Parts: sequence; structure tokens; C-alpha cells
Amino acid sequence: MTKWGELWEKSLRDISVEAALKCLDDAGVDKVDSITVGTMSGGLFNAQEHLGSLVADYLGQRFVPATRVESACASGGLAVKNAYMEVASGLSQYALAVGVEKMTDVDGGDATFALATASDYDYEAFHGITFPGLYALMAVAHMKKYGTSLEQLAQVSVKNHHNGSLNPHAQFPCAVTLDQVMTSTMVADPMRLLHCSPITDGSAAVLLVPLTVAKKMNKPYAVITGIGHASDTIALCQRKDFAKLEVVEVAAQRALKMAGKTIRDIDFAEVHDCFSIAEIIVMEALGVVESGQGGPATVNGLTALDGDFPINPSGGLKSKGHPVGATGVAQVVEAVIQLRGQAGPRQIKNARTALTQNMGGSGASSIIHILEAR
Ligand code: COA
Repeated sequence: MTKWGELWEKSLRDISVEAALKCLDDAGVDKVDSITVGTMSGGLFNAQEHLGSLVADYLGQRFVPATRVESACASGGLAVKNAYMEVASGLSQYALAVGVEKMTDVDGGDATFALATASDYDYEAFHGITFPGLYALMAVAHMKKYGTSLEQLAQVSVKNHHNGSLNPHAQFPCAVTLDQVMTSTMVADPMRLLHCSPITDGSAAVLLVPLTVAKKMNKPYAVITGIGHASDTIALCQRKDFAKLEVVEVAAQRALKMAGKTIRDIDFAEVHDCFSIAEIIVMEALGVVESGQGGPATVNGLTALDGDFPINPSGGLKSKGHPVGATGVAQVVEAVIQLRGQAGPRQIKNARTALTQNMGGSGASSIIHILEAR
């Protein structure tokens, strides 16, 4: 992946190609059979659509079949899934998945509008609600139903900023205190600035090949053994319970079934903490803890780097950043780095099995991958 942040000196095509070249260098490959690009909104952020061809062209892969996929903030996860299907179907031997978003070419208001188009435009965005607002509603519901406290929510950000401080690619690689989170600027009550993922430019890429080919490449690799993909109502207000993410429950069941595992077999997870409340609800939906126990478990250190179930060793969306289309690919990148034992100071001991959970909108789509070390 590229360094993430405000990359004003680089263009959308620059960062896509940079991540893709780093990935191909790492794999020792210079020609691919297909390219899948995950992006949420090149049109609204950069006035550039047709990203499959743009990336193939500037990557020097003319005539290679290139597909752009979109599932809002889960576009990156979808790109990995599409590359997996390219390989599984036999259409491609070398299938490249690139995730990219360059969000700082527009101002904050326009970025917020572009993001809001991933909600139900007629029934949500049109009336003025934003993603911080939607997740704030989920936080209030969770607090009311389970007694989740502001301190527990803030601890998610403290943990993820600690992890991100160990990640050279992170946009905000700085530790923060509980007090700093709890007194940061209010964005959408109770979500403050330090509960929110930022606006980010960045790209990430992974190469998928059949296992037989991976074995011959003489490079460290990880194996995708499970994929779960689900969708739910696009509007939050259509769901029975705002304190739940059923889309994650369903996607997780599918991925675990395919891998022949239970959540107890997973050593760590990269999850979609676009807001602190999201990490808490997602860990409950995955079955890491019972519903309502996500907040206390976070405070008790279950999900810390040295906890029994580390979550977001990369720093997560909160600290590493959230260039929306790139996030799902970067989650897989972190899983692979950890499974190869190459994560340096944020390395999780004995990491053999990883889960990545990528989410679109307020939980209208989710894609989960399970990866295992070899
Ligand atoms: N975490 C930590 N620091 C942040 C930050 C974040 N999420 N966002 C901005 N900052 C920092 C900036 O670097 C800046 O610091 P500086 O003054 O030292 O330079 C300061 O806070 C203010 O930044 P600014 O860009 O003016 O913030 P903003 O008010 O325009 O935007 C948010 C802040 C939270 C509204 C914006 O990041 C946001 O909308 N996040 C959510 C994105 C989202 O919805 N994604 C989709 C999820 S489903």
C-alpha cells in the first residue's frame, strides 16, 4: 500500500499505480491476467470514472481485462472477492485487486456529500443526515439498550491510535489519550472528531493466484479460505434494531462455514471501525463477545495487540485512515503482513488465522475474508 494521508502532490492514477507496482514487485510478477479496481466514487471525488482502464493503462497492462467494482466503503473487499472469483473460475492465473480513493481533491462539504450518496439518498441523505449522524444513531441505540458508556466508545479510538502509532503507512500515526478523545470536537453527538475515521487519500493492492502457482513462486503468501458477502436494507431506519449489524452476522457465518472454522479459531481481525461504535457492534456481530459486551471487552483489553482477540492491529480506519475504496484491500494487506510475521512492532504473536470485515454504508453491505498462514 501507499502511505495514507492528504497526498496533494499525487494524483488518483499515481497512487493506484504506486500500490499496484509495490504489490507486483513483492510478488515478483510483471504481467497480470486481470485487474479489479475497487473505488467508491472517482466521479464525485476526482471527476474520473472508468477506473479499470485508467489503472490498466498507467500500470502498463494494456489489453488486460480490467473491471471496476463498487460497494461504497466495501468496494475494496469486493475487489478482492472479484479477483478471487477470477482465479477460482480459471479465467485468471494472476489476478490483481487494487483499492483506491482520493478524497481530499474536494473540500470537506463535498466529501461529506459524496460519502452520503452511499446511504439511501431519497430517505436519508436528501434530508441532511451524514454518515457520522447515522453511526451516532447506532451509538445512541447501543448505549440505551446495553448501557455502553462514552468511555468504552472512546477506548476503541485509544486502542486503534496506539496500534496506528506503530504503522508507518497510517494517516494519523499518533497515540491519543482517553481524555483527548472524550473532549475532542463534537461531530454528531455522541461521535466526536476522535471517534471518526478521517478523510483520506490512499491505495492498496493484492495479487491472487491459484495455490499451485503460489507454491512455485517461492515467496511468502497467505491463503484465502473463506469469503462471506451479504447485503441488507440500504436505509438504517428500515432495520428493526439500530444496535445490531445483521449484515455482518450473515457474512461472518458464510465466511466461517466456507473456511470450516468458528470464530474461536480466528487469531485476530481487521474490522471496519469507520466510527468507534462500529467496531463494538461488529465484534458482537462476529460473535467475538455477546451482544452488549463489546464496550466492556474493549476496556478490559480483549482486543488490544496483546489481548486474546486483537482487533485492528493496523490502527484500523480510525488511525490508519479510510480512503473508502482502498480500505477493504488494505485490511487484507495487513492480514497478510501479520500472517507472514512481517508486522514489526505491531506483530501479533503466533498469528495463523485472520478475519477481515469490510462494510458499505451503515451496514447495507459487508464482505468478510478469512486468511490462513502457510
Ligand atoms: N481523526 C483525527 N484527526 C482528524 C480527523 C480524524 N478523523 N479528521 C481531521 N483530523 C484533524 C486534522 O488533521 C486537523 O488537524 P490540524 O488542525 O492539526 O491540521 C483537524 O483535525 C481538523 O481537520 P478538518 O479537516 O478541518 O476536519 P473536518 O471537521 O473537516 O472533518 C470529520 C472531520 C470527522 C467530520 C471528517 O474527518 C469526517 O467526515 N469523517 C468521517 C468520514 C466518513 O464518514 N467516512 C465514511 C464512513 S462510513
